[in-house]
Amino acid sequence: MSKRVLTTESGAPVADNQNSATAGVGGPILLQDQHLLEKLARFNRERIPERVVHARGSGAYGYFEVTDDVTGFTHADFLAEIGKRTEVFLRFSTVADNLGGADAVRDPRGFALKFYTEEGNYDLVGNNTPVFFIKDPIKFPDFIHSQKRDPFTGKQEADNVWDFWAHAPEATHQITWLMGDRGIPASYRHMNGYGSHTYQWTNSQGEAFFVKYHFKTNQGIRSLSAEQGAETAGKDPNSHQTDLLQAIERGVNPSWTLHVQIMPAADAAEYRFNPFDLTKVWPHKDYPLQRVGRLVLDRNPDNVFAEVEQAAFSPNNFVPGIGPSPDKMLQGRLFAYADAHRYRLGVNHTQLAVNAPKAAKADNYGRDGLMASNAYGRDRKNYEPNSYDGPAETGRALSAPLAVNGHTGTHEAPAHTKDDDFFQAGELYRLMSDDEKSRLVANIAGGLSQVSRDDVIEKNLAHFHAADADYGKRVQEAVRALRED
Ligand code: HEM
Repeated sequence: MSKRVLTTESGAPVADNQNSATAGVGGPILLQDQHLLEKLARFNRERIPERVVHARGSGAYGYFEVTDDVTGFTHADFLAEIGKRTEVFLRFSTVADNLGGADAVRDPRGFALKFYTEEGNYDLVGNNTPVFFIKDPIKFPDFIHSQKRDPFTGKQEADNVWDFWAHAPEATHQITWLMGDRGIPASYRHMNGYGSHTYQWTNSQGEAFFVKYHFKTNQGIRSLSAEQGAETAGKDPNSHQTDLLQAIERGVNPSWTLHVQIMPAADAAEYRFNPFDLTKVWPHKDYPLQRVGRLVLDRNPDNVFAEVEQAAFSPNNFVPGIGPSPDKMLQGRLFAYADAHRYRLGVNHTQLAVNAPKAAKADNYGRDGLMASNAYGRDRKNYEPNSYDGPAETGRALSAPLAVNGHTGTHEAPAHTKDDDFFQAGELYRLMSDDEKSRLVANIAGGLSQVSRDDVIEKNLAHFHAADADYGKRVQEAVRALRED
């Protein structure tokens, strides 16, 4: 018999945890059985809304260590010194499926990183892909609806997936990436992470730079073929979770090397690609990778719900020296995440241990709300300015200001000289070996051939043709062969 006493939520000892209290032997249950009522009621409330995207995920703690001097480009304190270490929490995820899906599916992977810096938490909420399907946040809910379960059939539908893409030529680059060899990572450890968006760094002289983040896996890239993915998803739907958990438990700590591409702010206007277009990369020959540091994951969370399900990342959690670029997608995300957290976790989600600053202290005049645990009151005013030495603003902007001009209105993103929806998709295709091209074509045709409407298929084929004539021809032939079967 355990020496520890089982108690109710309010701490009273429980006499019997096997039999509920009844009116006599074999009689109905008594309303006064507080332990039973509390246990059943609490159980009913165990679930919170799952994330509307990226519902399935795995997380781990670790650290980021600076290996190279980047102080010429940013005055961010956590990057200020070679050897400096900052604690991090990283949540990996799949995107489209619900919480009950499988890990080994063809889908981008989330790579959401929280740096617990001495100047507050910095969240870099990226993916394992350097680009994305769309370039305006106004399309995001439609895009996600088309990829998630259909409201009538209750499952993902090729008709919806490809109909959205038929109307989104800018997705051709990301589709080429996703349907290619890296589309099903073997595990979370064997894939890269990217900030994907362009961000802004500011140095101590106030000079601005535009930056893209690349976390290169030190485990090597490993992916699954379509067949291996289907088999793995069937055998162990939690294959990525199993792999990450077990690796860290065994002390095989996964790591990534962070590199950045850095563009002086003055280059942005004349660069051949719009540097704020999330459907484009910056070729490395234009802006080479520069090493910054090492990310290591070395500790599993003790409780998946408390630390992974309740983890809240927001692309607008910046620290001094780092800020947003005018990328419209990023701008939309600056709103969407904290709003999602207020809905899913509540206004006080920042007080949960995984989300609260660790190396800094939150000190402000936000008060109360559902589940508030900060009990400031005595000697702490709840308004600002005040005459009582309360926390006050610094007057120092986190990042350099951006110049803007023109008229308000709904505008398409400005096109630079080399900008179209297809050039970079074609470049990616042409980089592939013939075997890779064959697998890419087979993966695309496998999905596209299931579409019921010819006009939707034709529109998609036109995108692959526009990217590269050979690409278009091969997809067209493969789709035709599958539809004739
Ligand atoms: C305008 C476009 C986008 C919108 C409106 C959007 C919105 C959202 C929302 C509402 C969530 C759920 C947040 C939560 O409940 O915790 C989410 C999760 C996530 N999104 Fe996005 N998203 C967008 C684009 C992107 C892009 C481009 C990336 C990557 C570059 C990305 C990466 C992620 C990741 C990694 C998560 C999971 C974070 C976690 O692990 O908790 N999203 N997104």
